[in-house]
Amino acid sequence: MQFSTKTTALSNTPTSCLVLGVFINGNLPDATAEIDKACGKSISKILKAGDISGKIKESVLIQQPQAIKAKRILLVGLGKKTGLSLKKYTEVLRYTALQLNRYSLEYCVLGFPGLDVEKTDIERLAIQTAKVFTNAEYRYSETLSKARPALKLKRVSLAVSTKQRSRAKKGLDTGAAIALGMNEARNLGNLPGNFCTPTYLAEQAKKLATKNKLLKTKVLSEAQMKRLGMHSLLSVGHGSDEPSALIIMEYKGSTAATKPQVLVGKGITFDTGGISLKPGAAMDEMKFDMCGAASVFGTMHALCALKPKINVIGIVAAAENMPSARATKPGDVVTSMSGQTIEILNTDAEGRLVLCDALTYAKRFKPKTVIDIATLTGACVATFGNVVSGLLSNDDELADSLYQCGLDALDPAWRLPLWDEYQKMLHSNFADMANIGGRYGGTITAACFLSRFTEDFKWAHLDIAGTAWNQGEQKGATGRPVPLLMEYLLRG
Ligand code: BES
Ligand code: MN
Ligand code: ZN
Repeated sequence: MQFSTKTTALSNTPTSCLVLGVFINGNLPDATAEIDKACGKSISKILKAGDISGKIKESVLIQQPQAIKAKRILLVGLGKKTGLSLKKYTEVLRYTALQLNRYSLEYCVLGFPGLDVEKTDIERLAIQTAKVFTNAEYRYSETLSKARPALKLKRVSLAVSTKQRSRAKKGLDTGAAIALGMNEARNLGNLPGNFCTPTYLAEQAKKLATKNKLLKTKVLSEAQMKRLGMHSLLSVGHGSDEPSALIIMEYKGSTAATKPQVLVGKGITFDTGGISLKPGAAMDEMKFDMCGAASVFGTMHALCALKPKINVIGIVAAAENMPSARATKPGDVVTSMSGQTIEILNTDAEGRLVLCDALTYAKRFKPKTVIDIATLTGACVATFGNVVSGLLSNDDELADSLYQCGLDALDPAWRLPLWDEYQKMLHSNFADMANIGGRYGGTITAACFLSRFTEDFKWAHLDIAGTAWNQGEQKGATGRPVPLLMEYLLRG
């Protein structure tokens, strides 16, 4: 999708479709009123006829309006004039993309941006616009014999004032890069477990590095991880024929002296639960258990597209969790790279086992902050549903920052307490800790486990078990939390 800005008068702008908004009760935004006047009140007439009331998810297509250069006007409902939030504006954009596609339009000019969206500047509106339209382009096609029809829309122009122009352009670039990263994350997430293996993920990382000068990729084999003492990570892949891998992607947009932000993604390419086998219902969804890793990949893609002057390191801990004669058994004890021993009471609590060694490895980069992203606990889905991601941190400033970034990027996360009272639930008689914490507080005890490997740096954990993919009819990866991560990284 191509994005641009337009500063010419709307009535003088040639396009196959000019998109304009109307509020409930026939209230017209300035841009719409201006065109209404220019084309002989044809918009007022349609409103009077009751063809559109202005509610969100309503639209009318006006063919060949008079006296203006646009061939069509798509009139879309904006809802109530007061209290137009960025969330509602996003809904309007999503709906608009669908309508434009319905009419097979390839080019449109959006006449919205003069709108007052609550607490939102033009840059944010532009980010959101480019994000929504680029997301609308996404089609899963990897394992289909016939590709689904592509979105017909190819170019979107944003009508802005000359004063808004440079900020709008910047926003469009940012939004397009973020959505490109989201679409990449969605694609990796959606790819089935027999395609998306740890080796496949490693190849994708290498491929990204060959295409981008600012990116370097390193992949640690099982033998190399063994030498580093990553026996916790390795224990997860023991039962699988697919070798595990630790993938390191270094994005260098700034000088070597600049401390990097480190992202660590859980990359379980399929989670059967291992010997602590999961029940059969919906087990297919455990191909999404690498969505944390996918969000790291997506973020690296977005950075390569946008080239900000920062340093970011993406680490992906990739393994397949399978039962077999060689698989880890409940009660087995392993020694992590940190030297701490772990009693694996449940082989289905495998995410923390791969993450702990990746987090220990992260220390060597002398990170500014470390954020891990993981589809870690069913308990997080029980708590938050699919609306917000779980956020736990050993640093208040970092937690506050991520919370705010989530709100601003419309990719929210909500903090849970990481308090000492929960730590004792990980007690083991046979190792330094157990890998599960009992029946209650599962999201917190999982983070408590990770916190024992992150004492040397500022760290936050995002549990995306509920937000990484949609279930049901629209089953598929969402690309979250790429918007949240990009918002955080770009704030520097
Ligand atoms: N990948 C799962 C978590 C999960 C489950 C995410 C369902 C999304 C939907 C994770 O590896 C897991 O199995 N966690 C266990 C931990 C338990 C054994 C302590 C869980 O949440 O049940
Ligand atoms: Mn599991
Ligand atoms: Zn898992």
